[in-house]
Amino acid sequence: MQIVPAPFPAARLRRLRRTPALRDLAQEHRLTAKDLIWPVFVTDLPGADVEIGSMPGVARVTVDGAVRAAERAADLGIPAICLFPYTDPALRTEGCEEAWNPDNLSNRAVRAIKAAVPDVAVMTDIALDPYNANGHDGLVRDGVILNDETVEALVRMALAQAEAGADILGPSDMMDGRIGAMRAALEAAGHADVAILSYAAKYASGFYGPFRDAVGASGRLVGDKKTYQMNPANADEAIRLVARDLSEGADMVMVKPGMPYLDICRRVKDSFGVPTYAYQVSGEYAMIEGAVRAGWLSEAVVAESLLGFKRAGCDGILTYFAPRIAAALTG
Ligand code: PBG
Repeated sequence: MQIVPAPFPAARLRRLRRTPALRDLAQEHRLTAKDLIWPVFVTDLPGADVEIGSMPGVARVTVDGAVRAAERAADLGIPAICLFPYTDPALRTEGCEEAWNPDNLSNRAVRAIKAAVPDVAVMTDIALDPYNANGHDGLVRDGVILNDETVEALVRMALAQAEAGADILGPSDMMDGRIGAMRAALEAAGHADVAILSYAAKYASGFYGPFRDAVGASGRLVGDKKTYQMNPANADEAIRLVARDLSEGADMVMVKPGMPYLDICRRVKDSFGVPTYAYQVSGEYAMIEGAVRAGWLSEAVVAESLLGFKRAGCDGILTYFAPRIAAALTG
Protein backbone atom coordinates (compact mmCIF):
# COMPACT_ATOMS: atom_id res chain seq x y z
CA MET A 1 0.00 0.00 0.00
CA GLN A 2 1.37 3.33 -1.02
CA ILE A 3 0.55 6.08 1.45
CA VAL A 4 -0.05 9.37 -0.31
CA PRO A 5 0.89 12.15 2.10
CA ALA A 6 -1.48 15.03 2.16
CA PRO A 7 0.13 18.30 1.25
CA PHE A 8 0.52 21.11 3.76
CA PRO A 9 -1.63 22.40 5.39
CA ALA A 10 -3.84 19.28 5.32
CA ALA A 11 -0.88 17.47 6.81
CA ARG A 12 0.78 19.22 9.73
CA LEU A 13 2.99 16.63 11.40
CA ARG A 14 3.35 18.84 14.47
CA ARG A 15 -0.35 18.19 15.35
CA LEU A 16 0.55 14.87 16.98
CA ARG A 17 3.52 16.34 18.81
CA ARG A 18 1.50 19.10 20.49
CA THR A 19 0.90 17.54 23.92
CA PRO A 20 2.41 14.70 25.97
CA ALA A 21 -0.83 12.71 25.59
CA LEU A 22 -0.79 12.98 21.81
CA ARG A 23 2.90 12.15 21.70
CA ASP A 24 2.25 9.07 23.83
CA LEU A 25 -0.49 7.90 21.48
CA ALA A 26 1.69 8.37 18.44
CA GLN A 27 4.78 6.75 19.96
CA GLU A 28 6.08 3.89 17.79
CA HIS A 29 8.60 2.20 20.08
CA ARG A 30 8.84 1.81 23.83
CA LEU A 31 11.57 0.83 26.24
CA THR A 32 10.57 -1.22 29.27
CA ALA A 33 12.43 -3.06 32.03
CA LYS A 34 11.43 -6.28 30.24
CA ASP A 35 13.74 -5.38 27.37
CA LEU A 36 16.85 -5.51 29.53
CA ILE A 37 19.57 -8.00 30.40
CA TRP A 38 21.84 -6.81 33.21
CA PRO A 39 25.53 -7.79 32.97
CA VAL A 40 27.11 -8.33 36.41
CA PHE A 41 30.80 -8.87 37.26
CA VAL A 42 31.45 -11.41 40.01
CA THR A 43 34.56 -11.85 42.14
CA ASP A 44 35.84 -13.90 45.08
CA LEU A 45 38.76 -11.60 45.75
CA PRO A 46 39.04 -8.54 47.94
CA GLY A 47 37.88 -5.50 46.03
CA ALA A 48 34.24 -6.42 45.64
CA ASP A 49 31.99 -3.37 45.67
CA VAL A 50 34.86 -1.10 44.60
CA GLU A 51 34.05 0.80 41.41
CA ILE A 52 35.85 -0.23 38.25
CA GLY A 53 37.95 2.80 37.28
CA SER A 54 36.88 2.89 33.65
CA MET A 55 33.23 2.10 34.48
CA PRO A 56 32.11 4.65 37.08
CA GLY A 57 29.06 3.39 38.94
CA VAL A 58 29.80 -0.28 38.21
CA ALA A 59 31.54 -2.55 40.73
CA ARG A 60 32.35 -6.24 40.85
CA VAL A 61 30.23 -8.10 43.40
CA THR A 62 30.63 -11.24 45.49
CA VAL A 63 28.46 -14.32 44.88
CA ASP A 64 26.15 -13.02 47.62
CA GLY A 65 26.16 -9.65 45.90
CA ALA A 66 25.16 -11.35 42.64
CA VAL A 67 22.21 -12.94 44.43
CA ARG A 68 21.21 -9.51 45.71
CA ALA A 69 21.54 -8.14 42.19
CA ALA A 70 19.21 -10.88 40.94
CA GLU A 71 16.71 -10.00 43.67
CA ARG A 72 16.93 -6.38 42.61
CA ALA A 73 16.39 -7.42 38.99
CA ALA A 74 13.27 -9.32 40.05
CA ASP A 75 11.97 -6.28 41.95
CA LEU A 76 12.61 -4.01 38.99
CA GLY A 77 11.06 -6.37 36.43
CA ILE A 78 14.35 -7.06 34.64
CA PRO A 79 14.00 -10.60 33.24
CA ALA A 80 17.63 -11.67 33.07
CA ILE A 81 21.09 -11.08 34.41
CA CYS A 82 24.33 -12.09 32.73
CA LEU A 83 27.35 -13.14 34.78
CA PHE A 84 31.00 -12.39 34.05
CA PRO A 85 33.62 -13.75 36.44
CA TYR A 86 36.77 -11.98 37.57
CA THR A 87 38.84 -15.12 38.01
CA ASP A 88 41.64 -15.32 40.56
CA PRO A 89 44.88 -14.71 38.61
CA ALA A 90 46.31 -17.89 40.17
CA LEU A 91 43.63 -19.89 38.32
CA ARG A 92 44.38 -18.41 34.87
CA THR A 93 46.37 -20.91 32.82
CA GLU A 94 47.30 -21.62 29.21
CA GLY A 95 44.95 -24.64 29.28
CA CYS A 96 42.05 -22.64 30.81
CA GLU A 97 40.94 -25.67 32.87
CA GLU A 98 39.11 -23.48 35.39
CA ALA A 99 36.60 -22.64 32.65
CA TRP A 100 34.83 -25.99 32.99
CA ASN A 101 35.34 -26.51 36.73
CA PRO A 102 31.81 -27.26 37.99
CA ASP A 103 32.60 -25.17 41.08
CA ASN A 104 34.20 -22.20 39.41
CA LEU A 105 33.08 -18.73 40.39
CA SER A 106 30.55 -18.34 37.60
CA ASN A 107 28.98 -21.75 38.20
CA ARG A 108 28.74 -21.12 41.95
CA ALA A 109 27.04 -17.80 41.28
CA VAL A 110 24.58 -19.44 38.87
CA ARG A 111 23.64 -22.04 41.48
CA ALA A 112 23.25 -19.44 44.24
CA ILE A 113 21.03 -17.24 42.09
CA LYS A 114 18.86 -20.06 40.80
CA ALA A 115 18.36 -21.29 44.40
CA ALA A 116 17.39 -17.84 45.68
CA VAL A 117 15.60 -16.18 42.76
CA PRO A 118 14.57 -18.94 40.33
CA ASP A 119 12.37 -16.66 38.24
CA VAL A 120 15.20 -14.44 37.06
CA ALA A 121 16.85 -15.94 33.98
CA VAL A 122 20.59 -16.39 34.33
CA MET A 123 22.78 -15.97 31.28
CA THR A 124 26.43 -17.00 31.27
CA ASP A 125 29.39 -16.16 29.06
CA ILE A 126 31.19 -18.82 27.06
CA ALA A 127 34.72 -17.81 26.11
CA LEU A 128 38.08 -18.58 27.64
CA ASP A 129 39.34 -15.05 28.31
CA PRO A 130 38.56 -14.87 32.05
CA TYR A 131 40.53 -18.11 32.53
CA ASN A 132 43.31 -17.66 30.01
CA ALA A 133 46.85 -16.70 31.00
CA ASN A 134 47.09 -14.65 27.78
CA GLY A 135 43.66 -12.99 27.80
CA HIS A 136 42.41 -14.58 24.57
CA ASP A 137 38.98 -16.13 24.06
CA GLY A 138 40.57 -19.28 22.62
CA LEU A 139 43.47 -21.63 23.26
CA VAL A 140 46.72 -20.30 21.84
CA ARG A 141 49.63 -22.27 20.36
CA ASP A 142 52.67 -20.46 18.95
CA GLY A 143 50.68 -17.24 18.82
CA VAL A 144 47.83 -18.81 16.82
CA ILE A 145 44.28 -19.03 18.24
CA LEU A 146 43.24 -22.66 17.78
CA ASN A 147 39.67 -23.09 16.55
CA ASP A 148 38.72 -26.74 16.91
CA GLU A 149 40.58 -27.35 20.18
CA THR A 150 38.92 -24.24 21.59
CA VAL A 151 35.48 -25.49 20.54
CA GLU A 152 36.07 -28.68 22.55
CA ALA A 153 36.94 -26.58 25.60
CA LEU A 154 33.88 -24.38 25.07
CA VAL A 155 31.62 -27.42 24.91
CA ARG A 156 32.94 -28.55 28.30
CA MET A 157 32.30 -25.07 29.61
CA ALA A 158 28.76 -25.04 28.20
CA LEU A 159 27.93 -28.39 29.82
CA ALA A 160 29.24 -27.26 33.22
CA GLN A 161 27.17 -24.06 33.01
CA ALA A 162 24.03 -25.95 31.95
CA GLU A 163 24.61 -28.38 34.81
CA ALA A 164 24.86 -25.42 37.22
CA GLY A 165 21.43 -24.27 36.04
CA ALA A 166 22.10 -21.49 33.53
CA ASP A 167 19.02 -20.65 31.49
CA ILE A 168 20.80 -18.95 28.59
CA LEU A 169 24.32 -19.68 27.38
CA GLY A 170 26.12 -16.80 25.68
CA PRO A 171 28.99 -17.95 23.48
CA SER A 172 31.04 -14.79 22.96
CA ASP A 173 34.17 -16.46 21.59
CA MET A 174 33.59 -16.20 17.81
CA MET A 175 35.13 -19.60 17.01
CA ASP A 176 33.68 -21.39 13.97
CA GLY A 177 31.41 -24.38 14.64
CA ARG A 178 30.86 -23.76 18.32
CA ILE A 179 27.08 -23.40 18.27
CA GLY A 180 26.52 -26.75 16.54
CA ALA A 181 28.96 -28.52 18.83
CA MET A 182 27.35 -27.05 21.95
CA ARG A 183 23.83 -27.74 20.80
CA ALA A 184 24.64 -31.40 20.07
CA ALA A 185 26.39 -31.83 23.42
CA LEU A 186 23.51 -30.18 25.31
CA GLU A 187 20.97 -32.49 23.63
CA ALA A 188 23.07 -35.55 24.39
CA ALA A 189 23.50 -34.56 28.04
CA GLY A 190 19.79 -34.00 28.70
CA HIS A 191 19.90 -30.20 28.53
CA ALA A 192 17.58 -29.82 25.57
CA ASP A 193 15.86 -26.79 27.09
CA VAL A 194 18.92 -24.63 27.66
CA ALA A 195 18.83 -21.63 25.31
CA ILE A 196 21.78 -20.30 23.34
CA LEU A 197 22.07 -16.57 22.72
CA SER A 198 24.89 -16.46 20.23
CA TYR A 199 27.20 -13.48 20.06
CA ALA A 200 26.86 -13.98 16.32
CA ALA A 201 28.02 -10.62 14.97
CA LYS A 202 30.74 -9.61 17.38
CA TYR A 203 33.19 -7.04 16.13
CA ALA A 204 36.85 -6.58 17.08
CA SER A 205 36.13 -3.36 18.93
CA GLY A 206 37.95 -0.78 20.96
CA PHE A 207 34.76 -0.35 22.96
CA TYR A 208 35.50 -3.48 25.05
CA GLY A 209 38.39 -1.83 26.92
CA PRO A 210 36.62 -1.17 30.25
CA PHE A 211 35.19 -4.72 30.27
CA ARG A 212 38.69 -6.14 30.01
CA ASP A 213 39.61 -4.04 33.06
CA ALA A 214 36.55 -5.40 34.85
CA VAL A 215 37.42 -9.08 34.26
CA GLY A 216 41.16 -8.54 34.66
CA ALA A 217 42.06 -9.40 31.06
CA SER A 218 43.49 -6.02 30.00
CA GLY A 219 47.08 -6.41 31.12
CA ARG A 220 47.23 -9.99 29.88
CA LEU A 221 45.97 -9.74 26.33
CA VAL A 222 48.77 -10.53 23.92
CA GLY A 223 48.04 -8.97 20.53
CA ASP A 224 44.44 -8.41 19.47
CA LYS A 225 41.32 -10.44 18.66
CA LYS A 226 41.13 -9.67 14.95
CA THR A 227 41.59 -13.26 13.76
CA TYR A 228 38.29 -14.25 15.36
CA GLN A 229 36.21 -11.13 15.98
CA MET A 230 34.77 -9.31 12.97
CA ASN A 231 36.24 -6.47 10.99
CA PRO A 232 34.22 -3.31 11.83
CA ALA A 233 34.13 -2.54 8.11
CA ASN A 234 31.95 -5.58 7.31
CA ALA A 235 28.17 -5.89 7.21
CA ASP A 236 27.31 -8.74 4.80
CA GLU A 237 29.55 -11.01 6.85
CA ALA A 238 27.35 -10.35 9.91
CA ILE A 239 24.38 -11.74 8.00
CA ARG A 240 26.35 -14.87 7.07
CA LEU A 241 27.39 -15.36 10.69
CA VAL A 242 23.85 -14.99 12.01
CA ALA A 243 22.52 -17.40 9.36
CA ARG A 244 25.24 -19.88 10.23
CA ASP A 245 24.62 -19.72 14.01
CA LEU A 246 20.84 -20.06 13.57
CA SER A 247 21.34 -23.08 11.33
CA GLU A 248 23.50 -24.66 14.04
CA GLY A 249 20.90 -24.23 16.78
CA ALA A 250 21.16 -20.74 18.27
CA ASP A 251 17.82 -19.57 19.71
CA MET A 252 18.67 -15.87 19.86
CA VAL A 253 21.38 -13.75 18.31
CA MET A 254 23.36 -10.72 19.35
CA VAL A 255 25.06 -7.79 17.67
CA LYS A 256 27.99 -6.34 19.63
CA PRO A 257 28.91 -3.52 20.25
CA GLY A 258 25.60 -1.75 19.91
CA MET A 259 25.50 1.93 19.04
CA PRO A 260 28.09 1.96 16.22
CA TYR A 261 26.35 -1.12 14.69
CA LEU A 262 22.65 -0.20 14.63
CA ASP A 263 22.58 -0.83 10.88
CA ILE A 264 23.57 -4.43 11.59
CA CYS A 265 20.78 -4.81 14.18
CA ARG A 266 18.24 -3.64 11.64
CA ARG A 267 19.55 -5.91 8.88
CA VAL A 268 19.62 -8.95 11.17
CA LYS A 269 16.05 -8.36 12.36
CA ASP A 270 14.75 -7.78 8.84
CA SER A 271 16.63 -10.74 7.37
CA PHE A 272 15.73 -13.40 9.94
CA GLY A 273 12.91 -12.19 12.21
CA VAL A 274 14.44 -14.00 15.19
CA PRO A 275 14.96 -12.74 18.75
CA THR A 276 17.71 -10.16 18.25
CA TYR A 277 19.71 -8.44 20.99
CA ALA A 278 22.34 -5.75 21.12
CA TYR A 279 25.07 -5.40 23.71
CA GLN A 280 25.58 -1.80 24.76
CA VAL A 281 29.14 -2.61 25.77
CA SER A 282 31.41 -1.30 28.48
CA GLY A 283 32.95 1.43 26.33
CA GLU A 284 29.53 2.74 25.34
CA TYR A 285 28.61 2.80 29.02
CA ALA A 286 31.84 4.57 29.93
CA MET A 287 31.38 7.14 27.18
CA ILE A 288 27.80 8.00 28.13
CA GLU A 289 28.29 7.81 31.89
CA GLY A 290 31.51 9.79 31.73
CA ALA A 291 29.81 12.59 29.84
CA VAL A 292 26.78 12.57 32.16
CA ARG A 293 29.04 12.74 35.23
CA ALA A 294 31.03 15.56 33.71
CA GLY A 295 27.81 17.46 33.15
CA TRP A 296 28.34 17.48 29.37
CA LEU A 297 25.25 15.41 28.62
CA SER A 298 21.99 14.98 30.50
CA GLU A 299 20.78 11.73 32.05
CA ALA A 300 18.13 11.65 29.30
CA VAL A 301 20.71 10.31 26.84
CA VAL A 302 20.71 6.97 28.67
CA ALA A 303 17.10 6.20 27.72
CA GLU A 304 17.61 7.73 24.28
CA SER A 305 20.58 5.45 23.61
CA LEU A 306 18.55 2.39 24.60
CA LEU A 307 15.45 3.38 22.67
CA GLY A 308 17.63 3.52 19.56
CA PHE A 309 18.12 -0.25 19.83
CA LYS A 310 14.38 -0.85 19.95
CA ARG A 311 13.91 1.35 16.89
CA ALA A 312 16.66 -0.58 15.12
CA GLY A 313 14.70 -3.81 15.60
CA CYS A 314 16.22 -5.26 18.76
CA ASP A 315 14.05 -7.30 21.12
CA GLY A 316 16.31 -6.51 24.03
CA ILE A 317 19.54 -4.92 25.17
CA LEU A 318 22.37 -6.00 27.43
CA THR A 319 23.29 -2.85 29.31
CA TYR A 320 25.10 -1.81 32.47
CA PHE A 321 22.43 0.87 32.83
CA ALA A 322 19.78 -1.85 33.35
CA PRO A 323 18.98 -1.33 37.04
CA ARG A 324 19.14 2.46 36.78
CA ILE A 325 16.92 2.72 33.74
CA ALA A 326 14.51 0.07 35.05
CA ALA A 327 14.16 2.01 38.29
CA ALA A 328 13.53 5.21 36.33
CA LEU A 329 10.96 3.51 34.08
CA THR A 330 9.19 1.85 36.98
CA GLY A 331 9.04 5.25 38.63
C1 PBG B 1 34.83 -11.84 26.06
C2 PBG B 1 33.79 -10.80 26.15
C3 PBG B 1 34.04 -9.45 25.94
C4 PBG B 1 32.86 -8.80 26.22
C5 PBG B 1 31.88 -9.75 26.57
N1 PBG B 1 32.48 -11.01 26.49
C6 PBG B 1 35.30 -8.73 25.63
C7 PBG B 1 36.13 -9.13 24.49
O1 PBG B 1 35.69 -9.80 23.56
O2 PBG B 1 37.31 -8.78 24.55
C8 PBG B 1 32.72 -7.32 26.17
C9 PBG B 1 31.60 -6.71 26.90
C10 PBG B 1 31.75 -5.26 27.15
O3 PBG B 1 32.67 -4.58 26.64
O4 PBG B 1 30.90 -4.74 27.89
N2 PBG B 1 34.59 -13.01 25.55
